[in-house]
Amino acid sequence: MLKGRRILLGVTGGIAAYKAAEIVSSLRRAGAEVQVVMTRAAHNFITPLTLAVLSGHQVHTSLFDGGAEARHISLAAWGELLLVAPATADIIARAAAGIADDLLSTLLLSFDGPVVFCPAMNSKMYTHPAVQENLSVLERRGCHLMHPATGRLACGAEGPGRLPAAEVIVDYVSRLFAKQNDLAGLNVLVTAGPTREPLDPVRYLSNRSSGKMGYAVARAARERGAHVVLVSGPTALPAPAGVRLRHAETADEMYEAVMAHFPDCDVLVMAAAVADFRPAAKSERKIKKDGKRNLVLDLVPTRDILAAAGKIKTQQVIVGFAAETERLAETAVAKARAKGCDLVVANDVTVPGAGFEGDTNQVIFAFPDGRTQVLPLMDKQALAHRILDEVKMLRG
Ligand code: PMT
Repeated sequence: MLKGRRILLGVTGGIAAYKAAEIVSSLRRAGAEVQVVMTRAAHNFITPLTLAVLSGHQVHTSLFDGGAEARHISLAAWGELLLVAPATADIIARAAAGIADDLLSTLLLSFDGPVVFCPAMNSKMYTHPAVQENLSVLERRGCHLMHPATGRLACGAEGPGRLPAAEVIVDYVSRLFAKQNDLAGLNVLVTAGPTREPLDPVRYLSNRSSGKMGYAVARAARERGAHVVLVSGPTALPAPAGVRLRHAETADEMYEAVMAHFPDCDVLVMAAAVADFRPAAKSERKIKKDGKRNLVLDLVPTRDILAAAGKIKTQQVIVGFAAETERLAETAVAKARAKGCDLVVANDVTVPGAGFEGDTNQVIFAFPDGRTQVLPLMDKQALAHRILDEVKMLRG
């Protein structure tokens, strides 16, 4: 599956560095050629000799170990993908800041192919805002981030921060190669996030959508070569690299934005949690309380964007989402039929790890002909790729 692929493996100094041996072996079993670059700190956890024997190449540890040759340039020219596993908080920070003070950090600046970071560290460090911000910077620049596994860490703590198993990393890398440019030339329109329906100048009705699911779909489509327009409700997420971002605050604004782009798109993915109702009127002034009377809100239905697109569709593949709390499959199939969708991705938002806000989701695919398929709990980015795989099949 990786036959003949040339992979650069950056190994940094965390306790998980010993797992680099298994990663090198698994990559080679899959048919890849591997050259390893180690940081000085990584030597404390695994020897260069081990990785040299397993990779069949000299291990690179210094900018100057190639004599007159600029080692970072020749390695960058050789590799098709740079995998940093494990990636410590330190290399993540140096990469985000563009610091080039050793071979690996310099290679990260010289290499222009796909870069995959596999962060692995103590969970307090991983969730620290400094690390998360640095990861966002790398993601915004188009680097691929594998979320660490959750579980018992070397330090005894429980939480996110474990390096995923070697076969999971190899599978991720294989999928990246397999999907390179398979959606080239397609126009993909994605919606994400919540809408806000104003009540008065200071209040609005909204929901818990973070935008993560829709942004993951937009990013995945871009990675696979599509032209992507992302219509986003208000979120705290950075714009994915290479994606055309349009902001929409209310359901009405999202309707107008989607309708403007829909005729030219090949695929519409409606992951946004669009408000079903909005206040009948927006008060021009802040609504005051008098401490005695209840406030009764008059809500009117919003326009259904997905159903409107379903009515006018020509060649487009339409993917809707469904956020449900009961009878998932039945309701999702009914939604696919009612809204003219080719596929509905339904999440039971009461299931832990599924639906709003988190990095994972657990869904079923529901089709208008009544078929359903249950998917396991997975990372939203991996799910985004599964959805696009399905879109490809639906396009035939
Ligand atoms: O953003 P995250 O935090 O990552 O959370 C992801 C998610 C839970 C928001 C996402 O996975 C999801 O389920 N999105 C759809 C939520 C939703 O609005 O479901 P629904 O069953 O109410 O609507 C069904 C479909 O109709 C959706 O595709 C929705 O975008 C669309 N719709 C709804 C109302 C409306 N006025 N217009 C629409 O187009």
